[in-house]
Amino acid sequence: MKRYLIPALLALALAAACAKPVSPQEKLSANDARIDEIIAQMTLEEKVEMLHSKTNMSSAGVERLGIADINYADGPFGIREEGQPNGFMSAGWTLDSATYFPTGSALAATWSEDLAYKYGTGMGQEARLRGKDVILGPAVNIQRLPVGGRTYEYLSEDPILSAALALYYTKGVQDQGTAVCIKHFAVNNQETSRGSVDVQIDERTLREIYLKPFERAIVEGGAMSVMPAYNKVNGDYCSENEHLLNEILRGEWGFRGMTVSDWGGTHSTMGAMLHGLNVQMTGSNYLGQPVIDSIAAGALTEDLVNEKVRQILRVRFAVEPVPADVANTRMTSQPESQRIAREVAEKSIVLLKNDGILPVGPDVKKIAVIGQNAVLKTQSGGMGAGVKALYEVTPLEGIRARAGEGVEVTYAPGYKNYPGFRWGPVPAEPDPLEAAAINEPADPALLAEAVALAREADLVLFFGGTNKSIETEGSDRKDIKLPCGQETLVQALYAANPNLATVLVSGGPTDLQVLEPVSPAIVQGWWNGTEGGTALAEVLFGDIAPSGKLPFTFPVKLEDSPAYALGNFPGNSAGGDLFTLMFRPDVLKMTPAERQALIDALPKPVSQYTERFYVGYRWFDTKEIKPMFAFGHGLSYVTFGYDRLKASVSGRKVKVTFRLTNEGEMEADEVVQLYVRRIDSSVEWPAKELKAFKRVTLKAGECRKVSLEIPFEDLRYWNEETGAWDLEHGKLQLLLGAASDDIRQTAEVTI
Ligand code: BGC
Repeated sequence: MKRYLIPALLALALAAACAKPVSPQEKLSANDARIDEIIAQMTLEEKVEMLHSKTNMSSAGVERLGIADINYADGPFGIREEGQPNGFMSAGWTLDSATYFPTGSALAATWSEDLAYKYGTGMGQEARLRGKDVILGPAVNIQRLPVGGRTYEYLSEDPILSAALALYYTKGVQDQGTAVCIKHFAVNNQETSRGSVDVQIDERTLREIYLKPFERAIVEGGAMSVMPAYNKVNGDYCSENEHLLNEILRGEWGFRGMTVSDWGGTHSTMGAMLHGLNVQMTGSNYLGQPVIDSIAAGALTEDLVNEKVRQILRVRFAVEPVPADVANTRMTSQPESQRIAREVAEKSIVLLKNDGILPVGPDVKKIAVIGQNAVLKTQSGGMGAGVKALYEVTPLEGIRARAGEGVEVTYAPGYKNYPGFRWGPVPAEPDPLEAAAINEPADPALLAEAVALAREADLVLFFGGTNKSIETEGSDRKDIKLPCGQETLVQALYAANPNLATVLVSGGPTDLQVLEPVSPAIVQGWWNGTEGGTALAEVLFGDIAPSGKLPFTFPVKLEDSPAYALGNFPGNSAGGDLFTLMFRPDVLKMTPAERQALIDALPKPVSQYTERFYVGYRWFDTKEIKPMFAFGHGLSYVTFGYDRLKASVSGRKVKVTFRLTNEGEMEADEVVQLYVRRIDSSVEWPAKELKAFKRVTLKAGECRKVSLEIPFEDLRYWNEETGAWDLEHGKLQLLLGAASDDIRQTAEVTI
């Protein structure tokens, strides 16, 4: 008996060892046999019901066969409050207050895969409490433009950093039994004319820069659903883009799940059906009755419908529906998620500059907090990414709580807040603290009040930046200037009291040419979630060392950045801005025909990406343009020593080890960054590219051996001639450092 068993076991073990592991996407097919049985029982009408919205935030199941509807929730920074079935207006629920997590650029500033994972778990768990199956996020488009309305939603200007965070966010969400709907696929880098703009981009740039975050989250992370973007790419709308959806997503990446158009982003029946869309959100004018009619007319087949339903049901089967009597029985925001939001916020804050004024010392007995951004809540606004938070600690509240007895904290608004476009009725009495125009000059009375407080204080904390009306979905900023006379104000404050630190509360970069010379310390504080004020106070008072690093470049001036320098933005990319209003029936009543007529009458905006892969620091470094603050920059209250760099090539990886030392007197984190420069290359490359990074925590005085790896896959380029990935063999210079402009050690390897 045993004689036979042993070879059989060996054979089995060998087979298991040789078998190709099942990929995350292949796992989605686990229930295909059962799914096909269900499809066989469905009528054509039932199938087509699944291809479009049922309500504003759901698509239909088949009750008769026990298939639950699919419930969606925005994303990406908190489970959005419950809306009316037919639109985004509040449903007026009381248990739907969620945890407001730090926004995208803040998460990215942590450069932490661990935190991205935890963030995903918090989002995934809160989605379950609300009975939601799919989170409309993460939003992982590359931050191409400093003015981008959704820069704060997106992660980084760099594909490697964005891809790592997108992957771990995805895993975190999906490990909780909730699906992500990664968005906006693809190249949705501007809000200007987003509903009609045609992005003209070369294949290499598309692959190496703009698709990377999607690719990793989908291939390695098994993202179950994908949201095609509003814009066109090389001539075709993303929701009916053969190249993006059928060739790359399903063909090359093996995607088995479903695609869900952005809200109002479906444009035709045949285009969407033939070129890769599963669900029209919202409406049924394309993927409803017209599908049935097209089948009757012989233009489409029922097999195609079956295939789409199969892809949708894979997601439905992978995500267990939350029973109706369990969902929404507890408050959405839970302490565990609040703790995660705080940890992310703590590690996201970037110390841009410090002449020694921070942390706040024990001799500071009176602090003047100046600026409305210290008291404005940032949870709501910005359209889809707004959150009804259970609570939000503002910077002023955080500072007051931390300062405690014995330290007086005074406050003055200093400048007017720009409320932006008003969706509701205009108030009869204008609010004296609201500006009529974004570039309204400093208000003399507010300025005088603020200067008086500054003069009496030991330390001035100036809170500047933007707000969620200025940086918002639906429009891009016109420039990156600080609004509402903030520059005049900070100059006056500094003249009154040079013990001044600035905290920038914004999602994207701002122009600091005026502010920087009058700010001995500058902190990028972000829109930092439910516990943002607590985290900020901990950093300002030195309870923890700041450890965030910029996920994007702060240009000296807007015109330095690539799309501007080349005249690509706004260029001919403006003209279709009616879009946001057009697809919102709750805002503007319009029939599909009227809407189409309006779209047809609009100019046809085009966005040229001739800067190619020279996005962000790739441009600044290659052109040798000095930024205000470089990609990857971020100071601490300690300094770190880098030495003993060793580099080698082993297997299909470049490996480095080095010693990192915390030279300071408190525990602190450092984000170590490894860039690659090509030597004697025959292929065109930017001056350098980020290829690996790691967040390391070291106690005071501690030193540790740190290792980093670059898989060869990440060193490849997209060869336009062969239409495939290629590895260029030759010499690489490895640049190890604390920022893209702070390289500490270099080494060379040959691959
Ligand atoms: C946004 C998406 C969002 C959707 C639903 C759209 O306007 O572009 O990111 O998920 O609305 O709110």
